[in-house]
Amino acid sequence: MSTRRQHLLTLAAATVAPGLIAPAFAQQDALKIGVILPMTGPQASTGRQIDAAIKLFMAQNGGKAAGRKLEVIIKDDAGVPDTTRRLAQELVVNDKVSALAGFGLTPCALAAAPVATQSKTPLVVMAAGTSSITEASPFITRTSVTLPQVAVGMAEWSNKNNIKKVMTLVADYGPGIDAEKFYADRVTLNGGSVLDKLRTPLRSPDFAPMLQKVRDQKPDALFVFLPSGQGATFMKQFAERGLDKSGIRLIGAGEITDDDQLAAIGDVALGIVTAHHYSAAHPSAVNKKFVADFQAMHKFRPNFMAVGGYDGMRLITKALDITKGAGGEALINAMKGQIWESPRGEVYIDAQTREIVLDMYIRKVERVNGELWNIEFDSIKALKDPGKKK
Ligand code: PHB
Repeated sequence: MSTRRQHLLTLAAATVAPGLIAPAFAQQDALKIGVILPMTGPQASTGRQIDAAIKLFMAQNGGKAAGRKLEVIIKDDAGVPDTTRRLAQELVVNDKVSALAGFGLTPCALAAAPVATQSKTPLVVMAAGTSSITEASPFITRTSVTLPQVAVGMAEWSNKNNIKKVMTLVADYGPGIDAEKFYADRVTLNGGSVLDKLRTPLRSPDFAPMLQKVRDQKPDALFVFLPSGQGATFMKQFAERGLDKSGIRLIGAGEITDDDQLAAIGDVALGIVTAHHYSAAHPSAVNKKFVADFQAMHKFRPNFMAVGGYDGMRLITKALDITKGAGGEALINAMKGQIWESPRGEVYIDAQTREIVLDMYIRKVERVNGELWNIEFDSIKALKDPGKKK
């Protein structure tokens, strides 16, 4: 530092109260990302997984973007949309974050969308899966998956595997309704029939009456979507009612055989086929390193939520590198079209829709080396969100 500049700084420090000058410099220094997650409440497993993945990403990448220190501020919304909106506002106004990220539930992502639009702050959905979320603001992009991607993947497989009469069971809100519609429509288009469509409330669902209906109507298969965290409870009730031995096949989105809960679900999961964008057993070098590093740091297995968080961090930091730390429109534009190798395989952000384009895998639960894993055996490559109008 030149003597002249040093002299000016000393002068400034002498005339301004010391407590005031330090934060002003600090604020200029670090780039900030505001991450809103359900760290408590029914969706807490989502928060725990994404938080863990962010910590891993920061450790691996030196906690920097655009040559500046990167600070991640994690806030707990407990999955309550009004809280999400308030936290998003605070992060933008008080903390001056460059980007918002996280969002464990669709209603939470939608509640924050107006904040992204009004403040021109890019918002990266790391968890929620309703297709329409990215249409709620031109500043929203996504690194999780959409339920139409998952449901179409499952429908294509079930039609090819002698499953003709189906029933659906979904959580009664955005992603469940997307899953039901896109699974049922595609199955019907391919010549199958849908006997019934069942819905359970998002909060405190009771699966027993629904499972009785399934037993009575005897479809070839039951297609299920439940938000992450509910898989183990559902599987327990499915087995308790003897449905695992009824000849009715259980298929669905990967939440029912969640890597986070698979050990707790146990052998009743064996043989269950699901569609999803990530399995911890994905056999690539990038994923093997991701899983090994994650388990070494956190002592539990990463699931699909962790990968949405990890890739979201990658997307934001690369975009900040491109804009040299600038936010707003430049930052969301720098996210469009990015392509990279994720632990789930190659992905990119569709520049038109701001949606992630990914491989959709069909997997079967198997026991390998004493543990249960979702073993991928088929896939649809580079699947765009079927929920977007062409
Ligand atoms: C959602 O609310 O969009 C959501 C939540 C959990 C999931 C998938 C989607 O596992």
